[in-house]
Amino acid sequence: MSAIVHFNRRYHFSASHRLHVDALTPERNREIFGKCNNPFGHGHNYIAQVTFVGPVDATTGMVTNLADLDAFAQRELLDVFDHTNLNTLPCFLDTVPSTENLCLELWRLFEPYPHATLKRIRVEETGNNSFDYFGDSAPMSPQE
Ligand code: NI
Repeated sequence: MSAIVHFNRRYHFSASHRLHVDALTPERNREIFGKCNNPFGHGHNYIAQVTFVGPVDATTGMVTNLADLDAFAQRELLDVFDHTNLNTLPCFLDTVPSTENLCLELWRLFEPYPHATLKRIRVEETGNNSFDYFGDSAPMSPQE
């Protein structure tokens, strides 16, 4: 039986965003988001860490080929998100581009990767802030 190993890879991208909810008043937006509601936006150097899990291939000794994952990340993440204004991307036209929501979007992007199973998306927004998303496969409570 093959050993199961978790594999982590970090990707860097720079993007700007503005935290704003159209349905709320300008005053309420300023209350909730503070300086992050600045009309001109602000930038972050994001670090996305993806974690995949899978059996170590007996022949290659790898969970997945790094070149395959990097090509996938280039196409799905970096080509789309790097040096953009997140608010202008289709996924954030109606959704506030908080880093929490960025985690959810990155899960949707990386989950279809065919060579290993996605376990976690971590996005570091600053040196002090990071967010983890583990997918929504946790069992539902009996009341639901
Ligand atoms: Ni921000």
